[in-house]
Amino acid sequence: MFEDVRMSERQSISRPWDKLQRDRMPGYWLLASLGKRVLRPGGIELTKKMLAKLEISNKDHVIEYAPGMGVTARLTIQNEPSSYTAIERDRSAAQMLNDLLDKNPYWRCLNVDATDSVDLPEGFASVVYGESMLTIHPDEKKKTILQEVYRLLNKKGRYAFQELAISTDDLEQDFLEQMRRDLIYAVRHPAWPKSVNEWKKLIETQGFKVVNVIKRPVFLLEKERLIEDEGMIAALDFVYNILEDETAISRIREIRHVFRKYNNYLCGFCAICKKI
Ligand SMILES: C[S@@+](CC[C@H](N)C(=O)[O-])C[C@H]1O[C@@H](n2cnc3c(N)ncnc32)[C@H](O)[C@@H]1O
Repeated sequence: MFEDVRMSERQSISRPWDKLQRDRMPGYWLLASLGKRVLRPGGIELTKKMLAKLEISNKDHVIEYAPGMGVTARLTIQNEPSSYTAIERDRSAAQMLNDLLDKNPYWRCLNVDATDSVDLPEGFASVVYGESMLTIHPDEKKKTILQEVYRLLNKKGRYAFQELAISTDDLEQDFLEQMRRDLIYAVRHPAWPKSVNEWKKLIETQGFKVVNVIKRPVFLLEKERLIEDEGMIAALDFVYNILEDETAISRIREIRHVFRKYNNYLCGFCAICKKI
């Protein structure tokens, strides 16, 4: 049902964006292709706060959904969990992460879609988390993924997610639709962000109780956030890579414009949850 793609089984390293055209690729692979590694709305600081609340230790069996470039995976394995399993639908991203995890046989990235059932027993995990992945699925798929999270998590387990949220419930429907259309056009892939209250409601209807909520501004592609997320050298490399390519310049301008336009209405939203 899934593939655990390890170095020994493959010929060469490919990257998720290798076969995609820069003017059309999803925004997250565009950013990654230019050297950005942190691809979530609240940045690395929100991730660190999430991990602090999850208190991962060497007793934990951890599942991470959609690890992308493996930034959070690196932080998690510093705590030496008993096992770490990532679930990533992109084969190249899964390969890249498995290179990092190769030294421990209990750490691995499965090349599987989060909407499929994983070949792991019920109650296997004590910690499950995912960042910037539920937003890009419609409600029915969000629910399917959350049902699988519920199945995989043990009774006392902790679940956390970081996603894009609309910071208020008071916005007019027309405005919300225009914002969603603008976002989708700029990032060239679907997105269904929810308000903070809608996220909470969704998670609670799937059998979880939200025990903690943390919010942070999005500030995507703003100088301070770039440096905070990537470090000074990598941030400068990223800017240099953009300036090398006309298509990258116009796409990055477009994405930054749309996030600046709606920044007051959006936030990075993290919820720490447990099973009811
Ligand atoms: C916006 S990136 C976020 C990556 C990383 N979590 C981060 O925050 O930096 C979205 C990631 O989700 C993965 N993804 C999207 N849909 C998925 C699905 N249905 N199952 C597994 N992975 C998925 C993509 O391949 C990509 O790695």
